[in-house]
Amino acid sequence: MLFSDLTINENEPIYIQIKKYLEEMISKGLLPHNSKLPSTRELSLLLNVSRNSIISAYEELKSDGIIYSISGKGTFVNSDNNISNSHWNINYKNFENDYMKTANKMDIMKSEIRWKSGQISFKSISPDGDLFDMEELKKSFLNRFNLEGHKLLNYGYAQGYKPLIDYLHRYMNKKGVNTTNKDILIVNGFTEGLNLIISTLTNKGDYIFCENPTHNTSIKIMKSYGLNIIPINMDENGLDFKDLDMKLKKYKSKIKFSYITPSYHNPTGMVMSPENRYKFYNLMKKNNIPIIEDGFNEELLYSSSHIFPICSLDNNSNGVIYIGSFSKILFPGLRIGWIICDKNLIDRLESVKRCTTIHVSFLDQGILYDYLQNGAFEKYIKKTRKFYGDKFNFAKQCVEKYIECDYILGDGGLHLFLVFKDLNTRKLLNECYKKDVIFMPGDLFYIDDKGQNTLRLGLSRLSDEDIEKGVKIIGETIKELDHK
Ligand SMILES: Cc1ncc(COP(=O)(O)O)c(C=O)c1O
Repeated sequence: MLFSDLTINENEPIYIQIKKYLEEMISKGLLPHNSKLPSTRELSLLLNVSRNSIISAYEELKSDGIIYSISGKGTFVNSDNNISNSHWNINYKNFENDYMKTANKMDIMKSEIRWKSGQISFKSISPDGDLFDMEELKKSFLNRFNLEGHKLLNYGYAQGYKPLIDYLHRYMNKKGVNTTNKDILIVNGFTEGLNLIISTLTNKGDYIFCENPTHNTSIKIMKSYGLNIIPINMDENGLDFKDLDMKLKKYKSKIKFSYITPSYHNPTGMVMSPENRYKFYNLMKKNNIPIIEDGFNEELLYSSSHIFPICSLDNNSNGVIYIGSFSKILFPGLRIGWIICDKNLIDRLESVKRCTTIHVSFLDQGILYDYLQNGAFEKYIKKTRKFYGDKFNFAKQCVEKYIECDYILGDGGLHLFLVFKDLNTRKLLNECYKKDVIFMPGDLFYIDDKGQNTLRLGLSRLSDEDIEKGVKIIGETIKELDHK
């Protein structure tokens, strides 16, 4: 500590000793440029000397230009010392590992066209924040905080907040999932869930089956960990089982996992039929390939009754790792998702979670739990289904009216996927951008270089008026491109 090694002697005036001491500290670079010195009062108390001695020492140093004062703020070091001023420049690019390089290269927030104020953007598939039940959430916050704020603000358990885990067990039971041999780990949204599984259960060079196209973030995670992604084609009927059969024959012994989003698949918005869910599950079971099921968005079915997750077919087995998230309907900013799978695997993943982020915020989990269990969630779901269902139908009608495409995909969710015969949607995007309309070019969702003739329209945060206006502009621009 500063001044702890200063011993005042009787041979020299005190203020000279303090001055010399400070000069030495500054010249050695131990007191950096612009750092604040103690006030004269504080220092006199600390050194047990008169305040006048300190004032004299500071005055001398000031007249030598070594320190300066700012009225009302204090006294500061003015050092041109080589140590504190010399430049140290590390090139951190040379340190980057493959994970960082890939995550950075594939960061579409940096590489893709950005939204500008005034533009109609079909890029986002985030929920509309105006629908959030702020009053109910506020009540849940206050209630949970009053009940156990002191607990929620302290360290919690890596596996998650027990009442929320129990709630999700019951929630998954209602979806038909037998949770007897399974357990739950609370994670920071689907994204952390997939990251945890891929980073701990695969090694660089492993093979994984994946629908093509698929969620861009999932591709990024798998590529960041150096996986060989074997794409299984999707067409207007969903997963191409012939392609899957062919690739099973070719890669069977090498494939470690399959990753699939059976409900409101991103980007196609398709929902896999119950028959195909059975077929897929049994094929993977027969070939001993565990399934990573992405259960996001399951709540957003508008047109028919709920379809069971593939995980519910797993019954007493442990072949499916299900990752759930409410991100597309409820407070994605809370970043809360869950993994439900084999008990022993959850036990191992819990240790990894503890080792990486310790746990998801207990305050956030507590508030979400309160909100979910008090019945507000059911009411909210009904409201959002109707709201997004109407928007989805309206947008589909607009696309049918204004855009000539080969086919429109989407059984629900917050987006539509358009496939064209031979239109380059990157070119289309550039032209639409000039007219202040943007969307997601479909190639971002493909594992190979396909999808240049596709695009995704996110609808959730746009008014009907903007949807119609934007879709019309896209349609007109396609016609203009046709005539060029
Ligand atoms: C296929 C898919 N899964 C999961 C998610 C949700 O991820 P998270 O819970 O990390 O927000 C998304 C979000 O867009 C998605 O498209």
